[in-house]
Amino acid sequence: MTLTAPATPTLLARFLDVRALTERLAAPLSPEDQTAQSMPDASPAKWHRAHTSWFFEEFLLDPAGGYRPFDPTFGYLFNSYYEAVGPRHPRPERGLVTRPSADEVGRYREHVGQAVAALIERGLDEAQAEVVELGLNHEQQHQELLVMDALHLLSRHPFGPAMIDWPVEDDPDPEPLTWRPVPGGLYEVGHDGAGFAYDNEGLRHTVHLVPFEIAERAVTNEDWLAFTADGGYTRPELWLSDGWAAVQQQGWQAPGYWQEQDGQWMVFGSGGVRTLRRAEPVCHVSFYEADAYARWAGARLPTEAEWEVAAGDVAELRGQLLDPDRLHPGVAGRHMLGDVWEWTSSAYLPYPGFRPVEGAVGEYNGKFMSDQHVLRGASCATPAGHERLTYRNFYPAAARWAFAGLRLARP
Ligand code: AVJ
Ligand code: FE
Repeated sequence: MTLTAPATPTLLARFLDVRALTERLAAPLSPEDQTAQSMPDASPAKWHRAHTSWFFEEFLLDPAGGYRPFDPTFGYLFNSYYEAVGPRHPRPERGLVTRPSADEVGRYREHVGQAVAALIERGLDEAQAEVVELGLNHEQQHQELLVMDALHLLSRHPFGPAMIDWPVEDDPDPEPLTWRPVPGGLYEVGHDGAGFAYDNEGLRHTVHLVPFEIAERAVTNEDWLAFTADGGYTRPELWLSDGWAAVQQQGWQAPGYWQEQDGQWMVFGSGGVRTLRRAEPVCHVSFYEADAYARWAGARLPTEAEWEVAAGDVAELRGQLLDPDRLHPGVAGRHMLGDVWEWTSSAYLPYPGFRPVEGAVGEYNGKFMSDQHVLRGASCATPAGHERLTYRNFYPAAARWAFAGLRLARP
């Protein structure tokens, strides 16, 4: 095994930073908050803290040799979906795992953290450095999931308690909606291989786009109020068939976490239940709702390729990324990275020439490429530095618990 030059402090520093941020995000949650599971798609915060540690154990420490696992039962409890690794606890029952305690998970995290730090300090070979990089990006994804899942859990509490406190803000007027033309032609999309990206962002390839216009801000809460007032949730002609079925089955009348109190729209979020701010991008809508809104507005959702090309023009701008003291979108503006993920019309499919990596880690993204839609951008729960123009997030069409909104395209 050839060792590279002694690890730069950057990788170790980044590792310690990412690990600390997970703990920081979980800190406002009591052990009880961290144990409950509000739905099969969501996981307890305690599980996220443990699973991200298991990932380093399974894919870095164990293969490196000489590592003593913290607890041999944790592989079963905290393997998420890796068939090649072995059997695992059923996802819908993660909330029943009252042991290990939240404190014990904290000790597990320290055990793993120290072992990884020691390995980094000794020097990593190239393959190990790649696993650490993937493990860090994996933990960053779970930071967002931890926030999404904790909010979903608290939203199910009868009083919608605040996860964190932040000051009540004023209600500025939204930016007017303007459109930017994007010329038709051949464009390159996908990751070019420089720096980290998930396997599903490659290969970079050529697409042909016809001329289109992209909205220069996301759809706002104020926009959505007009849709709701115009009977958006009661008019089947605006909806895809599966979307209309979801409206009826789930009783959707407004975005997730909206509630009407004395004729006033209130929204549950990290600060508890607050009055709706008109200029924020609408959030916690499903693909079906985004699609119906676009149809109502006489527009459409962009494809993921259109989104990526259009975002290139404002690549340097950022909206609200993860701030542990906020965990809520800012106001819609010209940026395309931040505040909310944006649903695209694109099915989550492999790019031409995509091949998942060999081994269990190849299950990370590739095996989910059916019946999901791509979301682009980044949200107020995406840690800074994790966002990328080529990033392909994905959820099923009915999912609403992500920080997800939309941006329009036309014609
Ligand atoms: C890309 C957010 C759909 O939730 O399974 C976490 C992220 N991948 N661990 C998911 C992920 C592996 C993934 N999403
Ligand atoms: Fe995971």
